[in-house]
Amino acid sequence: MPKLKTILVTGGAGYIGSHCVVDLLEAGHDVIAIDNFANAVGDEDGSPALRRAEEITGKTIVFYKADLLDKPQINDIFDKHKIDCVIHFAALKAVGESMQQPLLYYQNNLLGMLNLLEIMRAHDCYQMVFSSSCTVYGEPEFVPITENHPTGSITNVYGRTKYFIEEMLKDLSAADKKWNIIALRYFNPVGAHPSGLIGEDPTKEFTNLMPFMAQVALGKKPVLTVFGNDYNTPDGTGVRDYIHVMDLASGHVAALNLLAGNHIGLKVYNLGTGKGVSVKELVDIFESVTGTKIPLKYVDRRLGDITALWADASLAKEELGWSTRYSIEEMCTDFWRWQTMNPDGYPKKNKTTVIVNGKS
Ligand code: NAD
Ligand code: UD1
Repeated sequence: MPKLKTILVTGGAGYIGSHCVVDLLEAGHDVIAIDNFANAVGDEDGSPALRRAEEITGKTIVFYKADLLDKPQINDIFDKHKIDCVIHFAALKAVGESMQQPLLYYQNNLLGMLNLLEIMRAHDCYQMVFSSSCTVYGEPEFVPITENHPTGSITNVYGRTKYFIEEMLKDLSAADKKWNIIALRYFNPVGAHPSGLIGEDPTKEFTNLMPFMAQVALGKKPVLTVFGNDYNTPDGTGVRDYIHVMDLASGHVAALNLLAGNHIGLKVYNLGTGKGVSVKELVDIFESVTGTKIPLKYVDRRLGDITALWADASLAKEELGWSTRYSIEEMCTDFWRWQTMNPDGYPKKNKTTVIVNGKS
């Protein structure tokens, strides 16, 4: 039985949260998930993603529709349950939106985290895994990027919320030795659970490469716009470290195992494959494993984009005993399975037409 038995998963109805919940349940943890559905399908009756996570595992999840900005509501959940550790996924993550609405992002991501930490402390819960991002590194000075690469020279507000939270966690763990925290810096999460039952279905507009490419393959969008083919990379397109979402999920279970047996204060780990893949390479692999054709249109570079970055993930291997298992081909196959089994994403109850006075 895991030592950290009961895990509160914030943002549990979201993309990475719902996949992580599957691994947590399979590893024998009890899961309490919360989400305010800012970027996930669901309502007062719960989350279809989490219902499917229950279907996959045959286990049950306790779910609350709750907002981290509503302190009394979160406090009640901690009063009701003895929580051993929190995995904190809940955040807003759209880079473009963060530039237009910085206060929304600072409020949601920073205040949400502050509320959570205060409530945890008040309930004697000092163990946390935090979703950080490779975005904290900004334009890389060297690749592969190790955890001690400088952070902070970030060009967007979303990225800065991750950086500020990391700094906050440093101060907190230095001031109070009870805290035991792991910040995981994800590279580019893609793919879906191999069952095809759960996947990525954001309610906000998305701009990430793989979901966009899948929409083109489904015929829902006419063409994939490639942002720049004049980068200093082998084929001129941008290079990233794409990681299967189930590999990310297992990284969280490994992080819990480290927290359970050790007092580490604050530790930071990269979660990536250690391999860089270009936009063009990803498109070629996606076409070949799915048997589809993706029409491409090359345009100028996207503002704020980085040329090439990939992880040095050796620290996570040494200290968490974690490494990736899924290939880039499997990332594409699994994402495509989810898309074709659920072309419109999760069932949306409020999609039914309501007739009022003869008008829809
Ligand atoms: P997601 O949007 O699918 O999931 C986040 C969930 O948090 C959503 O379901 C949203 O409704 C919920 N949420 C947001 N604010 C909330 C609040 N105040 N109270 C309660 N719930 C709230 O995103 P994801 O891709 O699953 O990302 C999970 C975490 O990983 C985020 O912190 C994100 O910044 C981080 N991350 C994601 C990526 C990526 O590419 N997906 C990369 C690096 C880091
Ligand atoms: C984006 C975010 C980053 C976040 C990360 C993970 C920006 C500027 N950065 O990173 O903060 O941490 O997602 O979610 O949004 N591409 C195209 N055409 C498209 C979409 C993307 O060519 O339609 C290219 C991009 O230029 C890039 C690569 O594909 O080279 C990956 O893009 P994307 O999936 O958006 O992720 P990042 O830009 O790495």
